[in-house]
Amino acid sequence: MAKRIDVNDLNVYYSKFRAVEGVSINIEPKSVTAFIGPSGCGKSTFLRTLNRMHEVIPGGRVEGEVLLDGDNLYGPGVDPVTVRSQIGMVFQRPNPFPTMSIKDNVLAGVKLNGKKISKSDADALVEKSLRGANLWNEVKDRLDKPGSGLSGGQQQRLCIARTIAVKPDVILMDEPCSALDPISTLAIEDLINELKNDYTVVIVTHNMQQAARVSDRTAFFNIAGTGKPGKLIEFNDTATIFSNPEQKATEDYVSGRFG
Ligand SMILES: Nc1ncnc2c1ncn2[C@@H]1O[C@H](COP(=O)(O)OP(=O)(O)OP(=O)(O)O)[C@@H](O)[C@H]1O
Ligand SMILES: [Mg+2]
Repeated sequence: MAKRIDVNDLNVYYSKFRAVEGVSINIEPKSVTAFIGPSGCGKSTFLRTLNRMHEVIPGGRVEGEVLLDGDNLYGPGVDPVTVRSQIGMVFQRPNPFPTMSIKDNVLAGVKLNGKKISKSDADALVEKSLRGANLWNEVKDRLDKPGSGLSGGQQQRLCIARTIAVKPDVILMDEPCSALDPISTLAIEDLINELKNDYTVVIVTHNMQQAARVSDRTAFFNIAGTGKPGKLIEFNDTATIFSNPEQKATEDYVSGRFG
């Protein structure tokens, strides 16, 4: 079930270095929110705080709150493993387990969470997840073949199938199309558009057209200089960010007049 995320005054650190400062943002359920901004402004860092992946990095810590439908993900007693099953993540490079079959790749996250599942339930879940990722028709006759035998775009959809098999509330994607050709990119964009019927989706992208095409709201992050923290500069409906932003920095960035 799609849930909302509310972030209150989040600071994100790598040891002493504050990489992201003072971010407050509300991410609506059943919608796509895009994060844009120049390289190094902390988009990936901030995204990883939304499912507690950031703290896996040595020295990685946060101050502030991230609420999932009102529950603080960083509250005492909250298990980060549970958080990561509620809030799934898709990475820049498709990362299926290469020797695992397509079917086992889809089930990998479910099994990692320690769930026991019967063969018939597993088969149904594999089909549903692959259909949900728009991949079923292309792979239904080779479910037992290795995931590494798929094209890059198919592998990325396989990773999305693996993510949705866990039935998350939110899906985070960090430049999910940057390693893909234009046709596969459009396939993923179509898929994102469908996923928002059921999930809350957050996507980091460097591609302005992509942000404009797939997102309902856009957050522009920026950085004042090397060693300075990234900040959220402006957050609004995507149409407003691209056609009528409030901040000069946003306008310069979206119109390509940057740096
Ligand atoms: N593991 C790490 N340890 C220390 N500093 C890091 C680490 N990862 C990122 N940083 C620093 O945090 C800042 C933000 O990096 P981040 O990767 O979040 O930026 P980004 O906006 O995603 O950039 P890009 O668009 O290039 O992916 C940068 O100064 C970066 O050098
Ligand atoms: Mg990044």
